[in-house]
Amino acid sequence: MSGRIPRYFIDDLLARIDIVDLIDAHVPLKKTGTNFVARCPFHSEKTPSFSVSRNKQLFHCFGCGVSGNAIGFLMDFSHLDFVEAVEDLATFAGVDVPREASDHPNSAPKKENVSDHYLLLEQVAAFYVESLRTNEAGKKAVNYLKSRGIDDDCAKEFMLGYAPDEWQALANRFDQHQLIQTGMLIDKDGRAYDRFRGRIMYPIRDKRGRIVGFGGRVLDDSLPKYLNSPETSVFHKGKEVYGLYELLRKDGKPKRILIVEGYMDVIALAGYGIHNAVATLGTATSQAHLDLLFRFSSELVFCFDGDNAGRVAAWRAMEATFSALKEGRQIRILLLPGQHDPDSMVREEGGEKFGMRVQQSQPLSDYFFSTLSSELNLNEMEGRSQLINKAKPYLEKLPQGVFREMMFARLNELTRSSGLDVSVKSARLAQKPISNKSQANRPLPLTLARRVMALLIQHPQLIVKVEQKEIIWEGLEFPGLQLFKDILTDVLEEKPANTAILLEHYRNHPNEKTVKVLASLALFPQDQKVDAEWVENEFSNGFENLLVQARKEADFQKLLAKNKKH
Ligand code: CTP
Ligand code: MN
Repeated sequence: MSGRIPRYFIDDLLARIDIVDLIDAHVPLKKTGTNFVARCPFHSEKTPSFSVSRNKQLFHCFGCGVSGNAIGFLMDFSHLDFVEAVEDLATFAGVDVPREASDHPNSAPKKENVSDHYLLLEQVAAFYVESLRTNEAGKKAVNYLKSRGIDDDCAKEFMLGYAPDEWQALANRFDQHQLIQTGMLIDKDGRAYDRFRGRIMYPIRDKRGRIVGFGGRVLDDSLPKYLNSPETSVFHKGKEVYGLYELLRKDGKPKRILIVEGYMDVIALAGYGIHNAVATLGTATSQAHLDLLFRFSSELVFCFDGDNAGRVAAWRAMEATFSALKEGRQIRILLLPGQHDPDSMVREEGGEKFGMRVQQSQPLSDYFFSTLSSELNLNEMEGRSQLINKAKPYLEKLPQGVFREMMFARLNELTRSSGLDVSVKSARLAQKPISNKSQANRPLPLTLARRVMALLIQHPQLIVKVEQKEIIWEGLEFPGLQLFKDILTDVLEEKPANTAILLEHYRNHPNEKTVKVLASLALFPQDQKVDAEWVENEFSNGFENLLVQARKEADFQKLLAKNKKH
């Protein structure tokens, strides 16, 4: 990929488009007062609580708490990452996305044309499919697939193919330079030859269906059993999973997603009607994998072989997922019996029984505590204190929230202790059914500082009211002061044309959530008549009061300190 997308472009883009038109194209909106409303596309509801503001250029759902600007909407609604969302938004606005010249010295002369890569890989895949059907040796491959129970429909669904057992099958047919860039040829001392020869070919597609790489399996017991495309500009093993596109084609919002280990597992399960499995590509599950999958489903089920290696892998996967856990995200662990992998299991017992196993898989919290305590005697104090020592380092990695509190509460219960990071309210929380977005909905106490900040965030043009003010920050202290100064500086220097742009500056910032909440905060009683003048006065007076109060507090603190000395 070329360089970063320049920030000025993103600001311009957000100023140029109208979020109302954008969202209306996906979710038909109705006008009520100054806002546009619809039933929320992010949770199910009967009456509309999803609202879009033309002034702020933001959307916000009063029901589930989601909010954001046009980029955020595309990311959430179309399951895109940031760059993809900016690209889509640019297409919507009819402009091209410029890239900053990369300052990396090696990256300049490369200049790869990524869309040509996708095209080439598509043609290569079609060639492999063709060889499977017509090549003499392809028959052997078809027989192999049949012997493993893969029928024609399944082969088509996954676009399975065959790479002829030749050194130059691709090299003779497609552009050499591009084949090298996409990892299809190995270039050794200026002599290039096909990487995949005499193998069954599994195209790996990204979530939008573009082929980004291949896996290839031998037809017998020779080694290596699998070869995979190397990392290229379009293929990153740590980010892609096998089978996601095929899964999404069947169901865009699956109730759960199964994570298995092998290509063959995904395909075999699909053959038995289980279409919600994906496989990592011979790598451990990464944070990027989890983030990707959690965009489509709130429940992931890790499926491992029942042997020792499977158990080790399950624990490792659990460790890796721990910091990604929060309420609304569920992880379950399924350990298969004996030497089975999902492929052999589903063939032996069929799709229905396999489905039952998935249903009965262990929630991560159970798996976690039962694995940790399996060798401990919790009837003895020793055992209980060992459990605390083993569990705590993991639990401390959990992000703040209800899930964390529940896990600590569970540990307390198991060890019959109290204390341990858990506040009194956790017991009560544990019994309450947890709603998806309960965190987002918990209101921030509306201090004067927050109210003034919220006014400025929602009406960045208010900055003219305080632009000329000489503010002496020295000694001032109030909760949220740093954020207050940050926002003030940002608005002063960048003059964002609307709230959406200001919000964009806080993407992935530690204060992103707070700024988002302030941007959607209702600041006036329903019946208050709000005009520009009223808002200006609220802001100017609030700002003035805040500084006066903070100054008084600072003076008071100074006095206290002085008296202490005497
Ligand atoms: N893998 C790999 N390179 C290897 C072996 C395995 O990349 N030399 C990856 C592949 O993605 C493979 C996965 O690890 O799908 C799991 O390996 P394995 O269980 O051996 O493969 P299966 O898909 O079960 O293949 P099969 O049933 O055909 O033996
Ligand atoms: Mn297998």
